[in-house]
Amino acid sequence: MTKLLGIIGYPLGHSLSPVFQQAALDHAGIDARYEAWPTPPDQVPQRVRSLREPDVLGANVTVPHKEAVLSHLDRLADMARRIGAVNTIVNRNGALEGHNTDVAGFMRALREDAGFDPRGKRVLLLGAGGAAKAAAFGLADAGVAWLAIANRTVERARELVASLPEGASSRALPLDHGALATDGPWDLIVNTTTLGMAGSAAAGETPLEASLIPGGALVYDIVYNPEATPLLAAARKAGARTLGGLPMLIYQGAEAFRLWTGVEAPVGVMFEAARKALRGQ
Ligand code: ATR
Repeated sequence: MTKLLGIIGYPLGHSLSPVFQQAALDHAGIDARYEAWPTPPDQVPQRVRSLREPDVLGANVTVPHKEAVLSHLDRLADMARRIGAVNTIVNRNGALEGHNTDVAGFMRALREDAGFDPRGKRVLLLGAGGAAKAAAFGLADAGVAWLAIANRTVERARELVASLPEGASSRALPLDHGALATDGPWDLIVNTTTLGMAGSAAAGETPLEASLIPGGALVYDIVYNPEATPLLAAARKAGARTLGGLPMLIYQGAEAFRLWTGVEAPVGVMFEAARKALRGQ
């Protein structure tokens, strides 16, 4: 029987997950189809319930439903419970298990693709939404020395700071030049805002000017389209190292693939399929 997988979000736009997950399933010889399941908020309960069917392996969950699905699941893995957000659901014989693979994806890209060890480092995190949460928990657990969280709505940054584990030395800042100019210097700057994202109202914008970027820093933009975002261009101008968002996207998907199938994901095949789709857009 052909198995089913899919991504639950709304709207789904040009989600790359169906493209690279299908390529990985085909490459691994797994008889499964990965579909796009655009789901308006009022249809989330039915959609999640449908994942209990025996032919369904599970699903990915994306904006805006990562928090809404929680109450419809039977079990939560530790990280999903701590963060309060699920991006991967696994169907285990009719029981639904929630996971958050964004944290693992974020950290794997940082360590493997940039060779960066966050322990003892000074970090500036831009944004305080769902993606920022995953980054902040990963960085706090990895033992960063300090974590400044800057957001347009500073109250959200304060809430994120308050939710982090004991011992994480973090503070909230407004996302403005004046406030940021008095912070730092940072070893790592991470952008989780949607500024610079292709197709958004803020395409072409950077959350940080080159003058605020230390030459020795690593700048990690989790926006993956375009691959060279305005922030990464500013970072290069400042002489900083850069890391784009595609590796995080692929690695969070690779971890989900492993949870659904029990098979190690072919990440090379996934990168290739995703890059091809991005070029074709
Ligand atoms: P995600 O789950 O992808 O992180 P989100 O929860 O909607 O999505 O978070 C989007 C982030 O981008 C937030 O930090 C948001 O700032 P606010 O909390 O102030 O809304 C940030 N963001 C979006 N548009 C922005 C803009 N034009 N200027 C500055 N920050 C922006």
